[in-house]
Amino acid sequence: MRQILFPKAGPPESMRVVEKPDPEPGPGEVRVRTTAAGINFADISARMGMYQDAPPFPCVIGYEVSGTIDAVGEGVDGLSVGQAVVAMTRFGGYSDTVVVPVLQAVPVPDGLDLQAAAGLPVTYLTAWLMLMHLGHVGEGDTVLVHSAGGGVGLSALQICKWRGARVIGTASSGKHARLREMGLDHAIDYRNQDFEAEVKRITDGEGVDIVLDAVGGDSFKKSYRCLTDFGRLFLFGVSSFNPGLTRSIFAALKGIAQTPRFHPFNLMNDNKGVHGVNLGHLWHRLDVMRPMFDRIVELAAAGVLSPVIDATFSFDEAPAAHHYIQARKNFGKVLLTP
Ligand SMILES: NC(=O)c1ccc[n+]([C@@H]2O[C@H](COP(=O)([O-])OP(=O)(O)OC[C@H]3O[C@@H](n4cnc5c(N)ncnc54)[C@H](OP(=O)(O)O)[C@@H]3O)[C@@H](O)[C@H]2O)c1
Repeated sequence: MRQILFPKAGPPESMRVVEKPDPEPGPGEVRVRTTAAGINFADISARMGMYQDAPPFPCVIGYEVSGTIDAVGEGVDGLSVGQAVVAMTRFGGYSDTVVVPVLQAVPVPDGLDLQAAAGLPVTYLTAWLMLMHLGHVGEGDTVLVHSAGGGVGLSALQICKWRGARVIGTASSGKHARLREMGLDHAIDYRNQDFEAEVKRITDGEGVDIVLDAVGGDSFKKSYRCLTDFGRLFLFGVSSFNPGLTRSIFAALKGIAQTPRFHPFNLMNDNKGVHGVNLGHLWHRLDVMRPMFDRIVELAAAGVLSPVIDATFSFDEAPAAHHYIQARKNFGKVLLTP
């Protein structure tokens, strides 16, 4: 099989394609020949040595693939050779062949493009967990989505619109027109506008019911101040800690220094909630996550949710794919194809 290896922390050019023997599926596992692998921001952080959950270098990362099953292990029920699936991979997704436990592979129904399905797991599960499972988003809610033009941002936008919520999004200005086409109610150019002041202006001083914030640092503080009564702030990333192509200790330290501490008394008196989310720490809760994943795939096949695939790069072009994301050019998902 062919894999994209990260030999050590470094810039995109440090990645290289290597050949390895094909893995064999063990009991309860299936082997998938990859059609496409999704890239996530966590992969960028891992490449730079800034992702504490990543395996040690040298490593092959990647959280999601779509493809076709070509071998099944002992005792596998319900999945068979030749079946198209989308799978969550606990690393190793940047690979033309993966082996996963059956619980992590969901059949791709007719009507859902197999390649595009690779863009479903991480971003939709993250958005679903925050908005549906924990946030109970619904009609009448106003939601502030940071980085609305990214993978999680667009997934969140689709879920919010489906549930009848109003969405305010922050994004680079070049993404605003496309975001509005996709139903975004208000776009904020966070580079040139103070998002907190804009949210207050747009909501007539009321604030919003839910904020999804993976920018981190000072943004967490301001997002909290954007909440109205009963508001819920979801913290799920710190992309501002990684401004360049290689690790920046200065940016990380600055971000940590700006990170707020939420005092229980203030939370009580404000009637607001702050919730952390890390999908990568939920592998032991597939009992909760798998039904969500099934529902997401079902809604995608029905056309209610629709992964926005911005660009597809071959394995050999993986460095260019990382550059593309780090230059903030992506609108939605970027995929790798073997
Ligand atoms: N906790 C979890 O379980 C979990 C799961 C998935 C993702 N996440 C986090 O959610 C965030 C978004 O992930 P994603 O996969 O949706 O990312 P993505 O598709 O790469 O999009 C990220 C967007 O964020 C903006 N951005 C802000 N700071 C950036 C930076 N330093 N470098 C590049 N882009 C930056 C860019 O939009 P603009 O051009 O509009 O600024 C970019 O398009 C990341 O922080 C990621 O770590 C967390």
